[in-house]
Amino acid sequence: LDNHPFQTNKRGHLEIGGMDSMELANKYGTPLYVYDVSMIRENCRAFVNTFKELDIKAEVAYASKAFSSIAMLQVVKQEGLSLDVVSEGELYTALQADFPVEKIHMHGNNKSLSELEMAISHDIGCIVIDNFLEIEMIENLLKKYNKTIDVLMRVTPGIESKTHKYIMTGNEDSKFGFNLQNGQAQEAFHLLHNHKSIRFKGLHCHIGSQIFETGSFVMATKVLFEHIAIWNEQDGFVPEVLNLGGGFGIRYTGEDSPLSLHTFVEELVQSVQYHASDLNIPLPEIWVEPGRAIVGNAGITLYTIGAVKNIPEIRNYISVDGGMTDNLRPALYGATYEAVLANKADYKPVNTTSVAGKACESGDMLIWDLPIPEVDNGDILAVFSTGAYGYSMANHYNRIPKAAVVFVENGNDTLVVRRETYKDVVKNDLSYSEEKIEM
Ligand code: LLP
Repeated sequence: LDNHPFQTNKRGHLEIGGMDSMELANKYGTPLYVYDVSMIRENCRAFVNTFKELDIKAEVAYASKAFSSIAMLQVVKQEGLSLDVVSEGELYTALQADFPVEKIHMHGNNKSLSELEMAISHDIGCIVIDNFLEIEMIENLLKKYNKTIDVLMRVTPGIESKTHKYIMTGNEDSKFGFNLQNGQAQEAFHLLHNHKSIRFKGLHCHIGSQIFETGSFVMATKVLFEHIAIWNEQDGFVPEVLNLGGGFGIRYTGEDSPLSLHTFVEELVQSVQYHASDLNIPLPEIWVEPGRAIVGNAGITLYTIGAVKNIPEIRNYISVDGGMTDNLRPALYGATYEAVLANKADYKPVNTTSVAGKACESGDMLIWDLPIPEVDNGDILAVFSTGAYGYSMANHYNRIPKAAVVFVENGNDTLVVRRETYKDVVKNDLSYSEEKIEM
């Protein structure tokens, strides 16, 4: 367990947040998402403190798409971060968690009128404008409510970050934001600059997710500033805020080697400082939106192992009681994970086996060729680093109910999302009776 934050206890079981993972599996059942809350807090503080140490005015917004639940947002609120939401559902969750509205930022490439209305009527802190239709809708809503609101303009800098194509967002051919290269951003800038009710604070860009090098961020900053320079000269524009998005990579397996947060942030800050001073404008506030880096490593998923299948000379398989319904990432991106047997955490691997999910889909494989000790039916498998985009992308394929979420902190466990029941699964189903067919 050298590379993992969680250790083995005296019984040889995997321990998380001061709790025996086997006790959690027995108490709550599996599959089970378990979060070490003190680690979430440490990650939140690391971001905030890094900017503080560098003496930079910053805002750190947790990207709640990575994992949103009322309890999670309460922790984020306690840690004093801001919050990034991308839908009415995420905003609703934030309001339910009593998250301070002025610290909520709203994203989305196709915000609906009702989403924007909810955001404006609740006076959220900032809307990140993505397209021309949105500018029009916001103008109308501000008139209707006789309000003003802070906004950023999301731009696509035309940078290809080094990550999976599905989570690359800063390239020119992207559904997100106004393109800088073809004059669309320029046009939007003119609509927003010096607007009466839309308070235009600055620019936003997000180049992608699970990124390990600062090069693409530095490039994006350079491109942003080329345009800021033009708008500064033409219209005297001075951005108050530069939001560089999220995307800070984490370790899933030995293949991943994230930079230290300090180095990462320092290099971003330096590039913004360089360009601002080159342009002779005050340093804008730097905003970031980490999701995965806050929750990814803080969460594990516990599964019970069922069927074991060995195909001599080809491969061994073990099947678990979850899979792509609680963790879509391997099926969707070919994402890789590490895992151990929670009840044999100090056993040496003697074999490799591939971990299959239970959904009716060949692609439902969680891990290929995992080194593992002798496996028995009923053993508990703990998959590491499932805290981000696991629960949040869970689905009901094969009518499998969503798993429960437990928070552990200082040796205490708290259920924060109940396991769904079969009743929950059919709760919106209506019947279609024979009488209706006859009518
Ligand atoms: N800000 C914006 C505008 C974003 O689009 C995203 C992620 C983030 C922040 C947070 O990125 P993070 O720090 O978590 O990398 N489902 C995929 C990731 C999709 C990310 C979409 N946007 C996955 O499981 O890898």
